[in-house]
Amino acid sequence: MPTGISFDRVADRYDDTRGGLARGVTFAADIRSWLATGTVLEVGMGTGVVATALVGKETPVVGVDVSPLMARRAYERIGARVALGDALALPVGDGSVGTVLFVMVLHLVGDIWPALAEAARVLRPDGRVVAVHGVPASTETDLDEALAPLGSFRRHRSDDDDSLQRAAEACGLRRLHVGGTTPIAQARTPNVVADEIETRIWSYLWQLTDAEWQAQAVPAVRALRALPEPNRARASTQWHRLSVFGR
Ligand SMILES: C[S@@+](CC[C@H](N)C(=O)[O-])C[C@H]1O[C@@H](n2cnc3c(N)ncnc32)[C@H](O)[C@@H]1O
Repeated sequence: MPTGISFDRVADRYDDTRGGLARGVTFAADIRSWLATGTVLEVGMGTGVVATALVGKETPVVGVDVSPLMARRAYERIGARVALGDALALPVGDGSVGTVLFVMVLHLVGDIWPALAEAARVLRPDGRVVAVHGVPASTETDLDEALAPLGSFRRHRSDDDDSLQRAAEACGLRRLHVGGTTPIAQARTPNVVADEIETRIWSYLWQLTDAEWQAQAVPAVRALRALPEPNRARASTQWHRLSVFGR
């Protein structure tokens, strides 16, 4: 039985709502210099936007995902480099991988400790774990104020810097780097963000009970639609944490 949170339900809208290939190119540029030699195993490869930008003769990339519909899209992009597979039971041998890469995945695996232990198992002695993780930071707009009722869901993740470092150290990995990814520009209108919430495009919305939906999502949607000029895009930039671990 796979663990984690499958993105099947948003596979057809994923690229349009998470920056698509352009985000993959930006993250790949941030990640590339941290890769160890040898194969990169991307855990939670999704639609393959980062892998597509990373892969090359010098950089063999393979990946796993628990979502068949996401993996199918990755397959259409980069061919037979992706398999169905779970972060907690990687289908590769001990000490066989140069880099284990997690991009926006560790908050979905339930418990990051076994995921880090599994990454450490498959890493070569000189291998690295590279993770893009944590609550994304962004420059503030009036959208943030309207989204405040959802704050406890949007702003809590299991893969913050300290939690990740503790889990990695417990597996014999030490932190080599922590910083931020290159900020990415985005422009979203209040009405589009309200639509995204109503259609539950964001994974943090999938866990809400009906009562939480009424108490937190409904007021946020109302506040968004009540903002002035709800069809005018608000420009901001967004970035994530980038951490690197090795032995
Ligand atoms: C936010 S997406 C990130 C996808 C890709 N890394 C990217 O940057 O676009 C998270 C992906 O992790 C997958 N996932 C969730 N839990 C997982 C697990 N336990 N093992 C493998 N993949 C998992 C989801 O199906 C989804 O495709």
